[in-house]
This record gives sequence, structure tokens and C-alpha cells, in this order.
Amino acid sequence: MPERTLPEDSLAVWAQNLSRTYPMGSGEVVGVRGVNLAVPRGEMVVIKGESGSGKSTLLAMIAGLDRPTGGRLVVAGLDLDGASPEQLTRFRRVSVGIVFQSFNLLPTLTAFENVCLPALLAGKPRERVEARARDLLRWLEIDGRAHHFPSQLSGGEMQRTAIARALINEPEIVLADEPTGNLDSRNAVSVTELLADLNRSLGRTVVIATHSSLADPFATVKILLKDGSIVERAGK
Ligand SMILES: Nc1ncnc2c1ncn2[C@@H]1O[C@H](COP(=O)(O)OP(=O)(O)OP(=O)(O)O)[C@@H](O)[C@H]1O
Ligand SMILES: [Mg+2]
Repeated sequence: MPERTLPEDSLAVWAQNLSRTYPMGSGEVVGVRGVNLAVPRGEMVVIKGESGSGKSTLLAMIAGLDRPTGGRLVVAGLDLDGASPEQLTRFRRVSVGIVFQSFNLLPTLTAFENVCLPALLAGKPRERVEARARDLLRWLEIDGRAHHFPSQLSGGEMQRTAIARALINEPEIVLADEPTGNLDSRNAVSVTELLADLNRSLGRTVVIATHSSLADPFATVKILLKDGSIVERAGK
């Protein structure tokens, strides 16, 4: 039987009435509520909103790290609700690359080893993985730091390492949660430009949640969240 092609399969992110609430005492706390979203592939999405408005919650669901409590979510052609644990593991490793404010590098591995890890876990041949890791570190201008441990790197170098790690499996979508929150202004500018370049030069879909306005000039889609819901949307 031919596979059914859903319109949402052609989108990078498709959400319908998406919610994530947390039980709290006899009530619940709203993380995200009633979000509808259709992001075509190849866009640069910037998500804004006050602290507690639901940005990280939304990104974590798109990344497959957290499960919605309501609604539907299709990312890079995978219906995250109906996905098997194996599909979800592969999705998190290969379809999306994730960059966090706090870098989340493994402290006992060098920069180079941190970058290689997701591709080795995905079963790719070591030689090819290492060659790509070297290319990425060179492109990010941190090849001189490849054999340093995270504790021996500056914040900017750690975030570049995390970006290389996010890209090692050539994900279709790069997700970044407050990626410049722990960087000085010079590094914040260059990390933002790197993410924009991934979108503009390499055509990747990039979704950034941030308080910073640095990414605004590069955004093709702007979303404003308030109390877990989208209250403004501009662009495609
Ligand atoms: N694990 C959790 N348990 C209970 N409530 C949670 C949990 N995670 C998030 N929340 C709540 O969900 C809401 C949205 O939080 P979220 O972290 O998504 O906000 P945010 O927009 O990323 O904020 P910030 O800009 O501070 O990072 C907040 O009210 C928060 O307290
Ligand atoms: Mg957050």
C-alpha cells in the first residue's frame, strides 16, 4: 500500500491545538496551551515571550524531549504522538539538533569527542564521523580547541562545540533554546550569525527561543508567546 502523504509532512513543524500542562496540587500549571503552528521547511523562526511564557516547553516538545498533554505535533514528517520509542530516539538523534543555553556538553569528553558522540550513537562509521567533526570544528573556528575538555573552553567555544554537536548528524531542524544567554555580547553576535548562516546558506530550518533581539533581523517567522499561547505571528 502506498504511504499516505499528509500535508503536514511537507512542513518542518506542524502543531494543532498543542498543549502541555503540569499537574500541580489540585490544579495544573500551563506550559503551552492551544498552539497551532505550520512552519514550512527552510525558515528561521524566532520565538519570543516573557519568562514563563512557554518557549522552552514548546521547544522541548518540538525536540521530542517532552510529550504534549494534548493536541497533535508533526516534526520533520514524524507524528511525535504516534511514534515508537525507537522512532523517537532516532528522531532526537538525527532529525533535530539541539543547542541549549547551558551548552550541556559532557565534561569527561573532549570537544571533539562531544561532537562525534551523537553520530557514533547513531551507528555511523567512525572514520566518516571524525572527518565531519574535524570539518565542523574548522568551520566554527575552534579546531585549535578540539582536544580540550569543556572546563578548558570559554563560553563561546563551548557553544560552538555544542553547535557542531547539533550538526554532526546533519539534522533537518536546528533548535536553540536561549543559545546566547550565557555568552558575552561579541560571542552572542557570532553565535547568532552562525545560526542565521545555517538557515540562509545551508537552508536548514532553525528555531530559536530567545529574549535577545539579536536574531530578529534574520527571522523569517516571528512568534510571540504569552501564557503558553501564540498571541502574535509575523512572516510566513
Ligand atoms: N516541569 C515543570 N513543572 C511544572 N511547571 C513547569 C515545568 N516546566 C515548566 N513549567 C511552567 O510552565 C510555564 C512555561 O515555562 P517555560 O520554561 O516554557 O517558559 P520560558 O518561556 O522558556 O521562560 P524563560 O524565558 O524563563 O526561559 C512556566 O509557568 C513554568 O513554571
Ligand atoms: Mg526557557
